[in-house]
Amino acid sequence: MIGFKLPDRLLSAIGSVILGVLIQAPAAAQGNPLTPTGKWSANQRGHAPLPPMGWNSWNAFHYDIDEEKVLASAQIMVDSGLAEAGYRYVNLDDGWWLQRRQPDGRMVIHTERFPSAKTSVLGMTSFKPFTDRIHAMGLKAGIYSDMGRNTCGQAYGPEGSNQPQGSVLQREVGLYGHVDLDIELFFREWGFDYIKVDGCGLRTFGEDFPRVQAGTYRALPPLIDMSSVARTDIVAVQKLFTEVADALVRHNPDNDFVFSVCLWGSANVRAWAKNIGNLSRTSDDITPSWSRLLTNFDTTVTRALYAQPGSWNDPDMLFIGQGGFDADHKTEARSHFALWAITNAPLLIGYDLRAATPEQLALLGHREIIALNQDPAGHQAVPVYHSGDVQILVKTLADGSKGVAVFNRGLASVDAVLTADHLKMQSGEPVAMVNLWTGEESSFMGETTLKVAPRETLVFRAQGQRALPEGMYLSELPGSINVAEDGVEHPAHDPTIHRNVLPWTGTRGVGEMPSYAGWGGAQADRSPFNEPLRLDGQIHQNGIGILANSRLEVRNSDFNAFTAQVGIDDTAALRDQEVTFAVYGDGKLLAETRFVPAASGSFDIEANIEGVEIIELVVRANGQPGFELPVVWGNARMIK
Ligand code: GLA
Repeated sequence: MIGFKLPDRLLSAIGSVILGVLIQAPAAAQGNPLTPTGKWSANQRGHAPLPPMGWNSWNAFHYDIDEEKVLASAQIMVDSGLAEAGYRYVNLDDGWWLQRRQPDGRMVIHTERFPSAKTSVLGMTSFKPFTDRIHAMGLKAGIYSDMGRNTCGQAYGPEGSNQPQGSVLQREVGLYGHVDLDIELFFREWGFDYIKVDGCGLRTFGEDFPRVQAGTYRALPPLIDMSSVARTDIVAVQKLFTEVADALVRHNPDNDFVFSVCLWGSANVRAWAKNIGNLSRTSDDITPSWSRLLTNFDTTVTRALYAQPGSWNDPDMLFIGQGGFDADHKTEARSHFALWAITNAPLLIGYDLRAATPEQLALLGHREIIALNQDPAGHQAVPVYHSGDVQILVKTLADGSKGVAVFNRGLASVDAVLTADHLKMQSGEPVAMVNLWTGEESSFMGETTLKVAPRETLVFRAQGQRALPEGMYLSELPGSINVAEDGVEHPAHDPTIHRNVLPWTGTRGVGEMPSYAGWGGAQADRSPFNEPLRLDGQIHQNGIGILANSRLEVRNSDFNAFTAQVGIDDTAALRDQEVTFAVYGDGKLLAETRFVPAASGSFDIEANIEGVEIIELVVRANGQPGFELPVVWGNARMIK
């Protein structure tokens, strides 16, 4: 809960705009998330300035991994040119462990599967020879663990699958109670560069779990309830993952590590993983099916403002090569790749590359699509048109051009109209487009109609005269924005995510419950509840929609003015609320509009941001506690 007092409403006239005031921000009430800090508080630790690219064993081999399989795919990454195209990490997933040695707790590798891990000392194993091999190929190595005592495989792995062996204690291979010991071993001694930390150990091993009742594992009261964020101990989960983040910093003095948080959108992870991790899973596991692709994609597509260089949304690994994305499903495979690329998802191949066809290798190595993903500006694409069937996504690129994806989710061909407005370009000037699949060049004025086949994703690079020639709208720059506090007081599951039929339950039971508590969060060009931004009857095509009691951090490059039209969104249910919009520069108040009553339309706010590194946009409400009030930073822009 956010708690603070507003100044006396008589202090300023309704809707007045105070410009250019330079007042030191009041000393922060301890922990008040609305207090400007003058700092960028999203994660800066580890090394993920761009979405990580590489390979992971899980989708290819599940528990059945071994050194030969992993090294074979690594070698093909090098030989096929994928490494040169940017694929760097070779990541082990579940299945590498034999046990935790007792009584000292040192982890022991399954040496029948990883023979190079044997040493001459009894009970002593090491991944150093393995990571040396990977490093000698010019690649980096990743390992996998779980935050609990036990693992996903121990929870869900079928009878006879490759699981840890030994006594109950020896089979406790997860990080719980061993964070420092394990992180030191994995990174300092074994030389890994990347870790994915799963969360099944915090969600499954309650007293009544059959494998606990059978005495196979010790009980650990679950902290996570996947289908109820209210029944999840968010603070405790966050604390455990923060312990890992801190240990990673301690044991990686060169800061060259990646921390991948795997909580599948549970535990309100959207709100905090971006502060401690480099990647955060937004949904449960992908499967090689179209429906599941939609489910996973939907958990990231409206969350562009929650990803930035150093911390990315993770809709799970690629499944190209298998099932609904195999050699007979080229359209689906291409859509999978393009959608992951343009939303800045990590590009982690999940396929036994020994089986890859030249065409599949060419898709995974597609330079222009990879360039969208690896664009140095790090802006996740923003949905500019959104329906059950067609989505249009636009991503601002470092050179000022735009990446565009026109995605047909449905089963019939559609004529999708792409407009200059979608691209925030002038409709009276030509827009030049390159189709990244075919290389074909074209141009249009105002709008163009594109035929999109079922499940197809057209991808373009577009260049034209910017609608805002002298600056940028904030909604074009999601990678430069950190939603430090989004005003969501009671995290609720996002109802707008496509829900597929889970292959492991079919249509039995209640179906898959939503686990992603993102509903009501900040949005680019939309209200928090996915409506157009509207102030006093007027739609604002550009802007940030957010709830009151929120604080955004915005990186300024070299702009010198910030302007916006602000107010309470027309969709707000309570019309008598009052709010204050304030703009800070490096912690100092620059401009403020006080007490904007809902019914009174929109108000201009502007601030001189010359030389300012971090702008903070704060909205405070004096409304009813617990009541969430959508507000608009309309046309919010930085200009020269
Ligand atoms: C969980 C994760 C998967 C994979 C498996 C391994 O389900 O979400 O990505 O790591 O565990 O058991």
